[in-house]
Amino acid sequence: MVSYQEHTSNIQLIDWIKEIEELCQPEQVYLCDGSQQEYDRFCQELVDHGTFIKLNEELRPGSFLCRSDPRDVARVEDRTFICSEKEEDAGVTNNWMEPSVMRNTLAGLFKGCMQGRTMYIIPFSMGPLGSDIAQIGVQISDSPYVVVNMRIMARIGQKVLDVLCNKSFIKCLHSVGSPLAEGQADVAWPCNVDNRYIVHYPETREVASFGSGYGGNALLGKKCVALRIASVMARDEGWLAEHMLIVGVESPEGEKTYLAGAFPSACGKTNLAMVIPPEGYEGWKVWTVGDDIAWIKPGADGRMHAINPEAGYFGVAPGTSYDSNPSAMYTIASNTIFTNVALTDDGDVWWEGMTEEAPAHLIDWLGNDWTPESETPAAHPNARFTAPASQCPSVDPDWENPLGVPIEAFIFGGRLSTTFPLVYQSRDWAHGVYMAATLGSEATAAADNQADIRRDPMAMLPFCGYNMGDYWAHWLSMENKVEHLPEIFRVNWFRKSADGKWLWPGFGQNMRVLEWVVNRVKGRVSAEDTPFGEVPRYDDINWNGLVYDADTFNDLMAIDSENSIREFEDQINLFNEIGDHLPQEMERQRQMMLDLLTPKKESSAA
Ligand code: GTP
Ligand code: SPV
Ligand code: MN
Repeated sequence: MVSYQEHTSNIQLIDWIKEIEELCQPEQVYLCDGSQQEYDRFCQELVDHGTFIKLNEELRPGSFLCRSDPRDVARVEDRTFICSEKEEDAGVTNNWMEPSVMRNTLAGLFKGCMQGRTMYIIPFSMGPLGSDIAQIGVQISDSPYVVVNMRIMARIGQKVLDVLCNKSFIKCLHSVGSPLAEGQADVAWPCNVDNRYIVHYPETREVASFGSGYGGNALLGKKCVALRIASVMARDEGWLAEHMLIVGVESPEGEKTYLAGAFPSACGKTNLAMVIPPEGYEGWKVWTVGDDIAWIKPGADGRMHAINPEAGYFGVAPGTSYDSNPSAMYTIASNTIFTNVALTDDGDVWWEGMTEEAPAHLIDWLGNDWTPESETPAAHPNARFTAPASQCPSVDPDWENPLGVPIEAFIFGGRLSTTFPLVYQSRDWAHGVYMAATLGSEATAAADNQADIRRDPMAMLPFCGYNMGDYWAHWLSMENKVEHLPEIFRVNWFRKSADGKWLWPGFGQNMRVLEWVVNRVKGRVSAEDTPFGEVPRYDDINWNGLVYDADTFNDLMAIDSENSIREFEDQINLFNEIGDHLPQEMERQRQMMLDLLTPKKESSAA
């Protein structure tokens, strides 16, 4: 093994590696070069170790199945901390602990935590390598699963060190928290579920994660750096780090309009990011820039420009099929890591919703025999695929453009079965920020979260690295930072009828909403003013290729004043929680909504 000092002269990095090695006491230290050979070697080691199962090379080339510990299957929000110097800078929506206290606690946990394991050094770049808007981090981890996933999700290895030179970087320390005593046999998915901590120090731009190997808990470039830490940088520097997909909608005439959309976890970002225009949309094309995270900066041309800081997709598997998301299916046809899906008898993968009929026999995500008669799902609801973005058939030619793509609209949507219409547009920027801030969604599997419905401002509730009220103020302030502001929309694909059926077919048909959004942005179509905002009339939507009657559309768009008033009244609870940091504009907007919805009494001329 070559020593890491030969590959970097970054004193800060060398010192940090030494410090962590001393603390964690690994058996060995390994600097990742990021090469294909290295990736292949680690995957083979994971197979030999029993962590990976090599999938059928004919059916799923270069791909692996991994089963996590059944107690380590999602982000753990109640174990996620923002340790700013001051508690109020973390705000009520984040867990906080005094940084010095947290550092003490973690020092105790990390002490000797890598015994018997290899400590991997993973230099990574979020954003195209060497671009002005990219951020470099170094993750230290004792999990080879993390290394191979990070190689797909970020740009990693020697090329990152070459760009880093002697500059500073975001320190990301990770351990599964499961040291091996002399001679102790390892398990397939080591973790430490009793002592999980996902910790951020926003002022010093550091992350420390202990006890979990899963997704956003462990792939620290993603939620920890590209959202929680980056949101703080964005506040300080005047840009936005958002939980958003980015797409380019191209018309048959070749006009391209880029949109960014924020949806809470498992509400369809990956689907919308790769949407295939349906029948009736011949000649249209939707290009994928990103499916989860967007960094958006004011550009020299007076517009907001977005980049996707990631290099891969860590997407929800269940529900993904050639019907619902063919592009995703092509993307994951090879070179993909599957976590917590089911294994077929011929060595391929399966999950609920992949095919109409389940195979007669499977090995489920827990490693047990499974048949369609089984009462538990074959795949975990938060089972995920890790696949390179470059394999996506709709990947935008500009997806790695360091200048980003110009954003003309922001779309915010939750999973809401009542009250909220399919789509509406804000009256102005502040109204749009208010619409985004009061976003809510019904429960999903991406987080260990039991509540039925929760407010999820900008879909950033679990990802905003500072005070939510300050974040809203920052959004409001963006109005003065660019000349050409994107328009703001709310959408809801999930409204249900009284008898519990989806009112909107969703998926590819969402294209009809995107077209209306594009037409609004370009000023080509009028809209009707309602208390919620500007909405399309039935005839404003292109129905070419879909039978969808005006009555159902009216149900889908209906504004029920009783429900709506209840909704806008309920928002006061969120605003009260935010407290002192609430921008007054938010409450002004809420009052305006209530005014618009409350039946006016005839004013009597006395
Ligand atoms: P994270 O990766 O967790 O941030 O989530 P995501 O936003 O990428 O979510 P994803 O695309 O994986 O969401 C998948 C879920 O949304 C599945 O249950 C899909 O069936 C469902 N879904 C996606 N699009 C639609 C739609 O248009 N209508 C309906 N009804 N469901 C949808
Ligand atoms: C999410 O939960 O929003 C995700 C998955 O994108 S994870 O990376 O695990 O956070
Ligand atoms: Mn996400």
